[in-house]
Amino acid sequence: MRLLGACFLLLCLCACKESETTFQETQNQQSLRQLLELPDHFPLPAVPEFNPITQEKITLGRHLFYDKRLSANQTQSCESCHLQHLAFSDGEYTPIGSTGDVLSRNSQSLSNAVYHSTLTWANNSFFELEDQLEVPIRSDNPVELGVSDAQVDTVLARFDSDPKYVEMFNQAFPNSASGATINKIIFALASFCRSLISAGSDYDRFIAGDDSALNEQQKLGFSLFNGEKFECFHCHSGINFSVSYRDSNSNSGSLQFPFFNNGLYNIGGDGSYPVQDQGLFDLTSNPSHKGLFRPQGLRNIALTAPYMHDGSIETLREVILHYAGGGRVIEEGVNAGDGRFNPNKSGLIIGFDPTEEEIDAVIAFLESLTDYDFISNPKFSDPFNEQ
Ligand code: HEC
Ligand code: HEC
Repeated sequence: MRLLGACFLLLCLCACKESETTFQETQNQQSLRQLLELPDHFPLPAVPEFNPITQEKITLGRHLFYDKRLSANQTQSCESCHLQHLAFSDGEYTPIGSTGDVLSRNSQSLSNAVYHSTLTWANNSFFELEDQLEVPIRSDNPVELGVSDAQVDTVLARFDSDPKYVEMFNQAFPNSASGATINKIIFALASFCRSLISAGSDYDRFIAGDDSALNEQQKLGFSLFNGEKFECFHCHSGINFSVSYRDSNSNSGSLQFPFFNNGLYNIGGDGSYPVQDQGLFDLTSNPSHKGLFRPQGLRNIALTAPYMHDGSIETLREVILHYAGGGRVIEEGVNAGDGRFNPNKSGLIIGFDPTEEEIDAVIAFLESLTDYDFISNPKFSDPFNEQ
């Protein structure tokens, strides 16, 4: 799906990006590759010109990510919902914010978030992490970290009174007036999130040329995933396994902002999803957008259960059975309905009849996307636990 307003905005944002097809990395790009430790088979991520990545911003962002002083009542940090050992998801169906509000959506893994063309489960106007990060920090409905207008000064004063932070802010933003601001916090956190690159799985070793990195079962799963029976690749393709994709070389004119309904619900037979979250419809009020969500990237997917925007599928086996069934039937209760006949369901979700061997193979392939270095790498870990 294409959204015109979205394209226009992106044109403004990306007007200065590289668009040549024969592409040689400039010195700046090579140093970004080194800074992010990107292997050759990974394209450079798109980084907005207004917030170039530096090691100093990443370092500040990493501290802020793990610091409970960033929540108004000092009980939560970003890490409360994004844990490194779970590839920065949290294992909950839907998380609880710092003041007890229950969120309606499952915490997303942050693996390679920078490569999605839009951010969050279903928002067609969050193109940059800087736009999206206002939400966890500032939102009052539901409250996550709860830094409301009334609380901003108190929260900023915590960082201004800590000499270590004063120094980190100065190093990250050497050309600005000294002191913490919400903008600087967001820019530093966005830089840290951009650095969360997962590119070291067995699958990566395989596509970088090591044929023995995947076993026969995983290779079978890989070909089923990319075949016309399972159809997964139509929505989960490319380096990050999502067609919601961009990198530094993407041409702004041809960027896609896809959202799909994969038949999880059909309440009342009119395509409705549970009222607390109807996906893109909640922003556009267009009934044909009910149940439309971003195809999630599948990096580290074996670590990020439960699945889907509301955590309503427990295991990868059940995810595959969901697709094999061509949608989900809920027999009774408030969510009763036959998702197979959701009028907004993508034409690519038609159901298929897999053997047990095929299901096991696709699961084994998805497990090959687990990156053990990513979930234990000290550069992404809690800096307050060092030594
Ligand atoms: C209370 C739990 C909670 C806290 C705290 C939290 N998040 Fe999240 N995060 C979520 C949920 C839930 C989503 C999905 C939101 C949606 O789809 O609307 C999300 C989405 C994201 C995304 C988008 C990922 C993508 O692939 O599009 C990023 C980036 C992110 N969070 C970073 C952060 C950072 C940085 C912080 C700290 C400032 C933070 N989060 C604090 C729960 C949380
Ligand atoms: C028509 C596009 C489409 C096709 C085809 C498709 N998916 Fe998805 N996938 C999505 C969307 C959209 C979501 C998020 C839906 C939601 O949360 O409501 C999703 C979510 C998922 C998730 C959960 C991600 C998470 O982090 O919770 C997994 C796993 C998954 N898909 C695997 C597969 C597999 C395996 C196949 C092939 C059998 C497949 N998908 C086919 C669009 C698709």
